[in-house]
Amino acid sequence: MPTDAELRAKLEEILKTSGEVQTATAARYLNIPESDLLAKITEWTDLRCKIQGGVIIAGPSNSSGEVNINPSKLLVPHEFAVQLGIVGATVEGEFNRVMDKLAAAGVLYPAGYREALILKYEKTKVLYPYIFLHIGDPHIRKHGRYREVLQCRGNLLDYGCGTGDDIRALVADGYPRQSVTGYDVNWTSITLGFDLYLDQKAWAGHFVVDKKFPFPAETFDVVYSGSVIHTLYTQKAVKNYILKAYSALKPRGIFFGVTLGYRKEFPPPFGKLLLSREQLGEVFGATGFFNIEVIEEIKEQQVYLWFYAKKLSQKGENLLRQIN
Ligand SMILES: C[S@@+](CC[C@H](N)C(=O)[O-])C[C@H]1O[C@@H](n2cnc3c(N)ncnc32)[C@H](O)[C@@H]1O
Repeated sequence: MPTDAELRAKLEEILKTSGEVQTATAARYLNIPESDLLAKITEWTDLRCKIQGGVIIAGPSNSSGEVNINPSKLLVPHEFAVQLGIVGATVEGEFNRVMDKLAAAGVLYPAGYREALILKYEKTKVLYPYIFLHIGDPHIRKHGRYREVLQCRGNLLDYGCGTGDDIRALVADGYPRQSVTGYDVNWTSITLGFDLYLDQKAWAGHFVVDKKFPFPAETFDVVYSGSVIHTLYTQKAVKNYILKAYSALKPRGIFFGVTLGYRKEFPPPFGKLLLSREQLGEVFGATGFFNIEVIEEIKEQQVYLWFYAKKLSQKGENLLRQIN
Protein backbone atom coordinates (compact mmCIF):
# COMPACT_ATOMS: atom_id res chain seq x y z
CA MET A 1 0.00 0.00 0.00
CA PRO A 2 1.57 3.34 -1.04
CA THR A 3 2.08 6.01 1.62
CA ASP A 4 0.14 9.29 1.57
CA ALA A 5 3.28 11.10 0.41
CA GLU A 6 3.66 8.68 -2.54
CA LEU A 7 -0.02 9.10 -3.52
CA ARG A 8 0.29 12.85 -3.35
CA ALA A 9 3.49 12.86 -5.41
CA LYS A 10 1.78 10.79 -8.12
CA LEU A 11 -1.26 13.04 -8.20
CA GLU A 12 0.96 16.12 -8.41
CA GLU A 13 2.80 14.55 -11.33
CA ILE A 14 -0.49 14.01 -13.21
CA LEU A 15 -1.62 17.56 -12.53
CA LYS A 16 1.74 19.04 -13.49
CA THR A 17 1.81 17.32 -16.85
CA SER A 18 -1.82 17.17 -17.93
CA GLY A 19 -3.42 19.98 -15.95
CA GLU A 20 -6.57 18.08 -15.09
CA VAL A 21 -7.84 14.57 -14.50
CA GLN A 22 -11.21 13.02 -13.72
CA THR A 23 -11.43 11.98 -10.07
CA ALA A 24 -12.50 8.44 -11.09
CA THR A 25 -9.49 8.07 -13.42
CA ALA A 26 -7.07 9.40 -10.81
CA ALA A 27 -8.50 7.03 -8.18
CA ARG A 28 -8.14 4.09 -10.58
CA TYR A 29 -4.57 5.09 -11.40
CA LEU A 30 -3.66 5.53 -7.72
CA ASN A 31 -5.49 2.30 -6.90
CA ILE A 32 -7.62 3.74 -4.09
CA PRO A 33 -11.41 4.26 -3.79
CA GLU A 34 -12.57 7.56 -5.27
CA SER A 35 -14.08 8.60 -1.90
CA ASP A 36 -10.67 8.11 -0.19
CA LEU A 37 -9.01 10.23 -2.86
CA LEU A 38 -11.54 13.05 -2.37
CA ALA A 39 -10.99 12.88 1.40
CA LYS A 40 -7.22 13.08 0.96
CA ILE A 41 -7.46 16.06 -1.38
CA THR A 42 -9.50 17.85 1.27
CA GLU A 43 -6.80 17.04 3.83
CA TRP A 44 -3.99 18.29 1.58
CA THR A 45 -5.03 21.90 1.93
CA ASP A 46 -1.82 23.21 0.34
CA LEU A 47 -2.24 21.10 -2.81
CA ARG A 48 -2.66 23.51 -5.74
CA CYS A 49 -5.88 22.24 -7.30
CA LYS A 50 -9.65 22.49 -7.27
CA ILE A 51 -12.39 19.93 -7.92
CA GLN A 52 -15.06 20.91 -10.38
CA GLY A 53 -17.69 18.62 -11.94
CA GLY A 54 -15.83 15.41 -11.04
CA VAL A 55 -12.55 16.75 -12.43
CA ILE A 56 -9.43 17.69 -10.45
CA ILE A 57 -7.99 20.83 -12.03
CA ALA A 58 -4.46 22.04 -11.36
CA GLY A 59 -4.35 25.40 -9.61
CA PRO A 60 -2.02 28.35 -10.10
CA SER A 61 1.51 27.00 -10.13
CA ASN A 62 3.66 30.09 -10.49
CA SER A 63 3.87 33.48 -8.91
CA SER A 64 2.00 35.19 -11.77
CA GLY A 65 -0.95 32.92 -11.09
CA GLU A 66 -0.85 31.13 -14.45
CA VAL A 67 -1.87 27.51 -14.58
CA ASN A 68 0.97 25.20 -15.63
CA ILE A 69 -0.83 23.20 -18.34
CA ASN A 70 0.73 22.12 -21.59
CA PRO A 71 -1.05 19.05 -22.94
CA SER A 72 0.69 19.48 -26.30
CA LYS A 73 3.94 18.33 -24.67
CA LEU A 74 2.41 14.98 -23.63
CA LEU A 75 3.16 11.84 -25.62
CA VAL A 76 -0.50 10.74 -25.40
CA PRO A 77 -3.68 12.16 -23.83
CA HIS A 78 -3.92 11.52 -20.14
CA GLU A 79 -6.64 8.80 -20.21
CA PHE A 80 -4.60 6.73 -22.62
CA ALA A 81 -1.41 7.31 -20.61
CA VAL A 82 -3.08 5.81 -17.54
CA GLN A 83 -3.95 2.65 -19.50
CA LEU A 84 -0.42 2.42 -20.89
CA GLY A 85 1.14 3.10 -17.48
CA ILE A 86 3.06 6.13 -18.80
CA VAL A 87 1.43 8.97 -16.92
CA GLY A 88 3.46 12.14 -17.33
CA ALA A 89 5.41 10.85 -20.35
CA THR A 90 6.25 13.75 -22.67
CA VAL A 91 7.21 13.68 -26.34
CA GLU A 92 10.54 15.28 -25.39
CA GLY A 93 11.32 12.81 -22.60
CA GLU A 94 10.36 9.69 -24.57
CA PHE A 95 12.00 10.77 -27.85
CA ASN A 96 15.21 11.55 -25.97
CA ARG A 97 15.08 8.16 -24.24
CA VAL A 98 14.45 6.27 -27.51
CA MET A 99 17.03 8.30 -29.43
CA ASP A 100 19.65 7.80 -26.67
CA LYS A 101 19.07 4.06 -27.04
CA LEU A 102 19.44 4.18 -30.85
CA ALA A 103 22.46 6.51 -30.63
CA ALA A 104 24.12 3.99 -28.31
CA ALA A 105 23.43 1.35 -30.98
CA GLY A 106 25.20 3.48 -33.61
CA VAL A 107 22.65 5.95 -35.10
CA LEU A 108 24.31 9.37 -35.60
CA TYR A 109 21.98 12.34 -35.16
CA PRO A 110 23.16 15.65 -36.67
CA ALA A 111 23.28 18.74 -34.44
CA GLY A 112 19.81 20.20 -33.85
CA TYR A 113 18.10 17.11 -35.29
CA ARG A 114 16.61 15.86 -32.01
CA GLU A 115 15.11 19.21 -31.13
CA ALA A 116 13.52 19.52 -34.59
CA LEU A 117 12.13 15.98 -34.42
CA ILE A 118 10.65 16.55 -30.97
CA LEU A 119 8.90 19.69 -32.22
CA LYS A 120 7.56 17.75 -35.23
CA TYR A 121 6.05 14.99 -33.05
CA GLU A 122 4.70 17.43 -30.45
CA LYS A 123 2.62 18.73 -33.37
CA THR A 124 1.69 15.49 -35.14
CA LYS A 125 1.75 13.07 -32.13
CA VAL A 126 2.71 9.39 -32.35
CA LEU A 127 0.00 7.16 -33.83
CA TYR A 128 1.01 3.92 -32.04
CA PRO A 129 2.72 5.05 -28.81
CA TYR A 130 3.15 1.50 -27.45
CA ILE A 131 5.11 0.48 -30.54
CA PHE A 132 7.19 3.67 -30.32
CA LEU A 133 7.97 3.11 -26.63
CA HIS A 134 9.33 -0.36 -27.44
CA ILE A 135 11.42 0.64 -30.40
CA GLY A 136 14.70 -1.25 -30.57
CA ASP A 137 13.09 -4.20 -28.76
CA PRO A 138 11.06 -5.85 -31.55
CA HIS A 139 8.55 -8.59 -30.90
CA ILE A 140 9.81 -10.74 -33.76
CA ARG A 141 12.98 -11.71 -31.85
CA LYS A 142 10.84 -13.08 -29.01
CA HIS A 143 8.85 -15.40 -31.27
CA GLY A 144 9.52 -19.09 -30.56
CA ARG A 145 9.90 -19.77 -34.31
CA TYR A 146 12.29 -16.86 -34.99
CA ARG A 147 15.40 -19.03 -35.38
CA GLU A 148 13.59 -21.30 -37.85
CA VAL A 149 12.43 -18.31 -39.93
CA LEU A 150 15.92 -16.79 -39.96
CA GLN A 151 17.15 -19.93 -41.71
CA CYS A 152 14.46 -19.65 -44.41
CA ARG A 153 15.93 -16.66 -46.32
CA GLY A 154 13.09 -16.69 -48.90
CA ASN A 155 10.81 -13.71 -49.73
CA LEU A 156 9.41 -12.33 -46.50
CA LEU A 157 6.57 -9.86 -45.99
CA ASP A 158 6.08 -7.85 -42.79
CA TYR A 159 2.32 -7.35 -43.10
CA GLY A 160 1.44 -4.13 -41.22
CA CYS A 161 5.09 -3.28 -40.62
CA GLY A 162 4.66 0.01 -38.71
CA THR A 163 8.09 1.56 -38.05
CA GLY A 164 9.78 -1.50 -39.62
CA ASP A 165 11.58 -2.38 -36.39
CA ASP A 166 11.02 -6.10 -36.99
CA ILE A 167 12.51 -6.22 -40.47
CA ARG A 168 15.46 -4.13 -39.31
CA ALA A 169 16.04 -6.80 -36.63
CA LEU A 170 15.72 -9.60 -39.19
CA VAL A 171 18.32 -8.03 -41.47
CA ALA A 172 20.63 -7.23 -38.53
CA ASP A 173 20.37 -10.92 -37.60
CA GLY A 174 21.43 -12.07 -41.07
CA TYR A 175 18.23 -12.26 -43.17
CA PRO A 176 19.00 -11.01 -46.72
CA ARG A 177 17.68 -7.48 -47.11
CA GLN A 178 16.83 -8.07 -50.78
CA SER A 179 14.28 -10.71 -49.67
CA VAL A 180 12.43 -8.45 -47.25
CA THR A 181 9.37 -6.21 -47.81
CA GLY A 182 7.53 -4.09 -45.26
CA TYR A 183 3.94 -3.26 -46.14
CA ASP A 184 1.51 -0.90 -44.44
CA VAL A 185 -1.69 0.97 -45.26
CA ASN A 186 -0.07 4.37 -44.59
CA TRP A 187 3.36 5.98 -44.30
CA THR A 188 2.87 7.35 -40.77
CA SER A 189 4.85 4.81 -38.74
CA ILE A 190 7.26 3.93 -41.56
CA THR A 191 8.25 7.62 -41.63
CA LEU A 192 8.66 7.60 -37.84
CA GLY A 193 11.06 4.65 -38.28
CA PHE A 194 13.10 6.56 -40.88
CA ASP A 195 13.08 9.66 -38.64
CA LEU A 196 14.53 7.64 -35.77
CA TYR A 197 16.94 5.33 -37.60
CA LEU A 198 17.98 7.74 -40.41
CA ASP A 199 18.28 4.80 -42.80
CA GLN A 200 15.78 5.67 -45.54
CA LYS A 201 18.40 5.26 -48.26
CA ALA A 202 19.40 1.76 -47.18
CA TRP A 203 15.74 0.68 -47.24
CA ALA A 204 14.70 2.37 -50.48
CA GLY A 205 12.26 0.15 -52.36
CA HIS A 206 11.67 -2.23 -49.44
CA PHE A 207 8.59 -0.51 -48.02
CA VAL A 208 5.27 -0.59 -49.84
CA VAL A 209 2.25 1.51 -48.88
CA ASP A 210 -1.18 0.90 -50.33
CA LYS A 211 -4.71 1.07 -48.96
CA LYS A 212 -5.43 -2.20 -50.76
CA PHE A 213 -3.25 -5.27 -50.30
CA PRO A 214 -1.15 -5.12 -53.48
CA PHE A 215 0.63 -8.48 -53.65
CA PRO A 216 -0.32 -11.26 -56.08
CA ALA A 217 -1.02 -14.80 -54.90
CA GLU A 218 1.95 -17.01 -53.98
CA THR A 219 4.55 -14.22 -53.70
CA PHE A 220 6.10 -14.88 -50.27
CA ASP A 221 7.72 -17.77 -48.42
CA VAL A 222 7.08 -16.11 -45.06
CA VAL A 223 4.56 -13.57 -43.82
CA TYR A 224 5.07 -11.92 -40.42
CA SER A 225 2.31 -10.04 -38.57
CA GLY A 226 3.22 -8.08 -35.43
CA SER A 227 0.46 -6.44 -33.35
CA VAL A 228 -1.85 -5.90 -36.33
CA ILE A 229 -4.72 -8.35 -35.79
CA HIS A 230 -5.78 -6.66 -32.53
CA THR A 231 -5.99 -3.30 -34.33
CA LEU A 232 -8.68 -4.64 -36.69
CA TYR A 233 -12.12 -3.83 -35.42
CA THR A 234 -14.35 -6.58 -36.81
CA GLN A 235 -14.26 -10.37 -37.20
CA LYS A 236 -14.70 -9.82 -40.94
CA ALA A 237 -11.60 -7.59 -41.10
CA VAL A 238 -9.57 -10.19 -39.19
CA LYS A 239 -10.71 -12.97 -41.53
CA ASN A 240 -9.92 -10.85 -44.57
CA TYR A 241 -6.48 -9.96 -43.27
CA ILE A 242 -5.61 -13.61 -42.57
CA LEU A 243 -7.01 -14.68 -45.93
CA LYS A 244 -4.76 -12.18 -47.72
CA ALA A 245 -1.73 -13.50 -45.83
CA TYR A 246 -2.73 -17.02 -46.90
CA SER A 247 -3.19 -16.05 -50.51
CA ALA A 248 0.15 -14.17 -50.70
CA LEU A 249 2.03 -17.20 -49.36
CA LYS A 250 3.59 -19.80 -51.61
CA PRO A 251 2.60 -23.42 -50.91
CA ARG A 252 4.40 -24.57 -47.70
CA GLY A 253 4.81 -20.89 -46.74
CA ILE A 254 4.88 -19.78 -43.11
CA PHE A 255 2.59 -17.24 -41.44
CA PHE A 256 3.76 -16.23 -37.98
CA GLY A 257 3.44 -13.34 -35.56
CA VAL A 258 1.85 -12.00 -32.42
CA THR A 259 -1.37 -10.26 -31.43
CA LEU A 260 -3.10 -9.30 -28.23
CA GLY A 261 -5.78 -11.82 -27.37
CA TYR A 262 -8.81 -12.27 -25.13
CA ARG A 263 -9.23 -14.04 -21.82
CA LYS A 264 -12.13 -13.18 -19.54
CA GLU A 265 -9.80 -12.40 -16.60
CA PHE A 266 -8.17 -9.64 -18.68
CA PRO A 267 -10.86 -7.48 -20.31
CA PRO A 268 -9.68 -5.61 -23.43
CA PRO A 269 -8.01 -2.32 -22.49
CA PHE A 270 -9.54 -0.06 -25.11
CA GLY A 271 -12.89 -1.68 -25.85
CA LYS A 272 -11.31 -3.58 -28.71
CA LEU A 273 -12.32 -6.78 -30.44
CA LEU A 274 -9.85 -9.38 -29.19
CA LEU A 275 -9.93 -13.06 -30.12
CA SER A 276 -9.26 -15.91 -27.71
CA ARG A 277 -6.52 -18.42 -28.45
CA GLU A 278 -9.18 -20.89 -29.66
CA GLN A 279 -10.95 -18.35 -31.87
CA LEU A 280 -7.72 -17.31 -33.57
CA GLY A 281 -6.81 -20.95 -34.20
CA GLU A 282 -10.28 -21.51 -35.71
CA VAL A 283 -9.86 -18.61 -38.15
CA PHE A 284 -6.51 -20.02 -39.27
CA GLY A 285 -8.06 -23.46 -39.72
CA ALA A 286 -11.05 -22.11 -41.66
CA THR A 287 -8.68 -20.17 -43.94
CA GLY A 288 -6.89 -23.36 -44.92
CA PHE A 289 -3.75 -23.20 -42.76
CA PHE A 290 -2.41 -26.32 -41.12
CA ASN A 291 0.32 -26.99 -38.49
CA ILE A 292 -1.41 -24.25 -36.48
CA GLU A 293 0.16 -23.20 -33.19
CA VAL A 294 -1.21 -20.45 -30.98
CA ILE A 295 0.72 -19.98 -27.74
CA GLU A 296 -0.74 -17.81 -24.99
CA GLU A 297 1.45 -15.63 -22.78
CA ILE A 298 0.21 -13.36 -20.00
CA LYS A 299 2.39 -10.31 -19.52
CA GLU A 300 1.65 -7.03 -17.73
CA GLN A 301 -2.05 -7.95 -17.42
CA GLN A 302 -2.35 -8.54 -21.17
CA VAL A 303 -2.79 -11.70 -23.20
CA TYR A 304 -0.27 -12.21 -26.00
CA LEU A 305 -1.01 -14.83 -28.67
CA TRP A 306 2.12 -16.00 -30.47
CA PHE A 307 1.03 -17.78 -33.63
CA TYR A 308 2.54 -19.89 -36.37
CA ALA A 309 0.83 -21.70 -39.24
CA LYS A 310 1.71 -23.18 -42.61
CA LYS A 311 0.08 -23.18 -45.99
CA LEU A 312 -0.45 -26.59 -47.53
CA SER A 313 1.76 -27.80 -50.36
CA GLN A 314 0.13 -27.85 -53.81
CA LYS A 315 -0.24 -31.61 -53.48
CA GLY A 316 -2.00 -31.18 -50.13
CA GLU A 317 -4.35 -28.57 -51.56
CA ASN A 318 -5.26 -30.82 -54.50
CA LEU A 319 -5.91 -33.70 -52.12
CA LEU A 320 -8.16 -31.54 -49.95
CA ARG A 321 -10.12 -30.41 -53.01
CA GLN A 322 -10.69 -34.04 -53.99
CA ILE A 323 -11.90 -34.95 -50.48
CA ASN A 324 -14.26 -31.97 -50.37
C1 LIG B 1 0.25 -1.50 -33.67
S1 LIG B 1 1.01 -1.22 -35.19
C2 LIG B 1 2.20 -2.54 -35.27
C3 LIG B 1 3.36 -2.23 -36.16
C4 LIG B 1 4.45 -3.29 -36.27
N1 LIG B 1 3.98 -4.49 -36.92
C5 LIG B 1 5.05 -3.61 -34.91
O1 LIG B 1 4.86 -4.71 -34.41
O2 LIG B 1 5.71 -2.74 -34.36
C6 LIG B 1 -0.22 -1.81 -36.33
C7 LIG B 1 0.14 -1.50 -37.76
O3 LIG B 1 -0.73 -2.24 -38.62
C8 LIG B 1 -1.09 -1.42 -39.69
N2 LIG B 1 -2.34 -1.96 -40.28
C9 LIG B 1 -3.59 -1.89 -39.78
N3 LIG B 1 -4.47 -2.52 -40.59
C10 LIG B 1 -3.75 -3.01 -41.63
C11 LIG B 1 -4.08 -3.75 -42.80
N4 LIG B 1 -5.34 -4.12 -43.06
N5 LIG B 1 -3.11 -4.07 -43.66
C12 LIG B 1 -1.83 -3.71 -43.40
N6 LIG B 1 -1.45 -3.01 -42.30
C13 LIG B 1 -2.40 -2.66 -41.43
C14 LIG B 1 -1.20 -0.03 -39.08
O4 LIG B 1 -1.14 1.00 -40.04
C15 LIG B 1 0.01 -0.05 -38.14
O5 LIG B 1 1.17 0.42 -38.73
